[in-house]
Amino acid sequence: MKAALFTEQNADLVIRDDIELAEVGRRDVRVKIGSSGVCHSDLSVMNGTIPMPPPAVLGHEGAGVVTEVGEAVTSVEPGDHVILSFTPACSVCKPCLRQQSFLCQETGPQSMSTNFRMDGNPIPGMTGLGTFAEELIVGEPGIVKIEKDVPLDVAALIGCGVTTGVGASINTAGVTPGSSVVVFGCGGVGISAIQGARIAGASAILAVDTMENKLEQAKHFGATHVATPDGLNDAKATITGGEGFDFALECIGNPNTIRATYDAARMGGTAVIVGVGRMEDMVQFSAFELFYANKTLKGSMYGSANVRTFMPELLSLWKTGKLDLESMISRRIKLDEVNDAFRAMQAGEVIRTVIDF
Ligand code: APR
Ligand code: ZN
Repeated sequence: MKAALFTEQNADLVIRDDIELAEVGRRDVRVKIGSSGVCHSDLSVMNGTIPMPPPAVLGHEGAGVVTEVGEAVTSVEPGDHVILSFTPACSVCKPCLRQQSFLCQETGPQSMSTNFRMDGNPIPGMTGLGTFAEELIVGEPGIVKIEKDVPLDVAALIGCGVTTGVGASINTAGVTPGSSVVVFGCGGVGISAIQGARIAGASAILAVDTMENKLEQAKHFGATHVATPDGLNDAKATITGGEGFDFALECIGNPNTIRATYDAARMGGTAVIVGVGRMEDMVQFSAFELFYANKTLKGSMYGSANVRTFMPELLSLWKTGKLDLESMISRRIKLDEVNDAFRAMQAGEVIRTVIDF
């Protein structure tokens, strides 16, 4: 089958049509991919920001149709539609029992599974998925069953960016009605965070991005104000009287914007780090300010979401017109064109590119 392979850092993905799959294990599910989103984290694997050695099938944001299940699988059968979850939700480990499936202890084992075959050798898919392939195999905890009337492109977006961004606003930050919010970065994740803040009832949402076209688009999704980084302080003064925002979310993964996000939150406010930065990048805080400003600084993994309840909730929001997913798809491509999608992302031209299989 066809798949896009990460074979070397800082190089284009290689499209091959001779990739095979392992046998379906007792607890595994085989899924035919319907659509896959192209997320910045895929690019972050290619450029070394997210450590993962090649070779691997890239892609971690996708949805599809179950084609085969192992004999111990109980929650789905062939023909069912599923969203792939890049952290599994095993439901029995301590984090899952604490209702924190985004920290599920099966995440490591899932990401190390090697269900693809290249030249006869086992190779992994990104985060144990590998949605840039026509089909994949994943353990049952890594799938979330959905209704068959949900288009698979819409479902694919929920696999990463939308759950991450909307979840960051609703679950991690806990945006409250009438509050002020600033979101740094208006890609698929940041636009989702803006939508999450709007859904939660924020009265002011400032979108910050270096690209004017992204700021224009952010207004459609609920930003009440927009600013480039240069205009941030003026916007902060206008919106909050200079006090700072109740909630500040970083959706880029850059140490400077992480610092700016902390600074943009008001005293006693909340700063949430959603973007994935490099292991070696450091962010500095003075020992005094951490205490004195009384801010809450939180990381947000997968939108702090319990995928089995949150993904269906997102679909309800979409069905009732409260969450706009269609407008987030800027471009549709075939798998062969995946390298163009990364160039468009780096040029700031797209919110999300979707690969249709
Ligand atoms: N200041 C403001 N905006 C910036 C800056 C900056 N210094 N640098 C980049 N941006 C903007 C880009 O113009 C773009 O609109 O941030 C946005 C990032 O969007 P995408 O590249 O589409 O990334 P996305 O898929 O949304 O992911 C964002 O979340 O899950 C993580 O790994 C992912 O770290 C990445 C982040
Ligand atoms: Zn992603």
